[in-house]
Amino acid sequence: MEGDIVNSVLELYKDSKWRDIVDRYHDHPERNKLLWVYPSGENFQFLKQCLEDLLCTNIVSIGCGSGLLEWIMSQATGIPVSGVEVDGAWWHCKYAPPTFIPLLFTPMEIDKEIITLLSKPHTALMFCYFNARAAFENYLNKFSGNVLIIIGPGEGKGVHTEPRPFEEVDNWKLYKWQEVRQSRDFIAVYVRECLRNGVMKHI
Ligand SMILES: C[S@@+](CC[C@H](N)C(=O)[O-])C[C@H]1O[C@@H](n2cnc3c(N)ncnc32)[C@H](O)[C@@H]1O
Repeated sequence: MEGDIVNSVLELYKDSKWRDIVDRYHDHPERNKLLWVYPSGENFQFLKQCLEDLLCTNIVSIGCGSGLLEWIMSQATGIPVSGVEVDGAWWHCKYAPPTFIPLLFTPMEIDKEIITLLSKPHTALMFCYFNARAAFENYLNKFSGNVLIIIGPGEGKGVHTEPRPFEEVDNWKLYKWQEVRQSRDFIAVYVRECLRNGVMKHI
């Protein structure tokens, strides 16, 4: 159906046209059906550079939803991105949005498979528009890597997420950040506090 964002995005996805997806749909009124944030090519370059500098070779995204961001991110940066979700029953039901990567499901109590994923060397942990404080802390406690990415709304956007970009996270410090286009959404990259600037390049 013309004007249906879901079908149009699916067509572009089949043709691997990630740039057309973000350029055409970043301010579409129904964009949240598939994804909350549509970063630009420049945003992906920023993230890629951060991850290269911090020696990360893969990303685990928690609460990835449809996985559209994760698919686009892996296409745009060349870095593999896996996505974790809860509620497998919902994501398999006919009313659920389409999925763009194979989702990894976990029960509320994080299971062994996900703990193994969180222990893989050179992994960055990502939360985009996540909204579950206790779960965020649980994942972070199980994560053994040094890089954390929080994507979400800045102050004044009128949307609540937990965690928010720029908020203080115990034992982590803000490394670099960039606004997603001019959307008042932000990509905030944190590093583990025990790692001083520059040390990463040598581990
Ligand atoms: C607001 S949506 C954001 C989805 C996607 N990241 C985006 O930006 O469009 C938050 C997602 O987090 C998922 N979620 C909530 N609690 C979770 C948990 N404990 N583990 C994994 N995912 C969780 C929800 O199912 C939901 O899909």
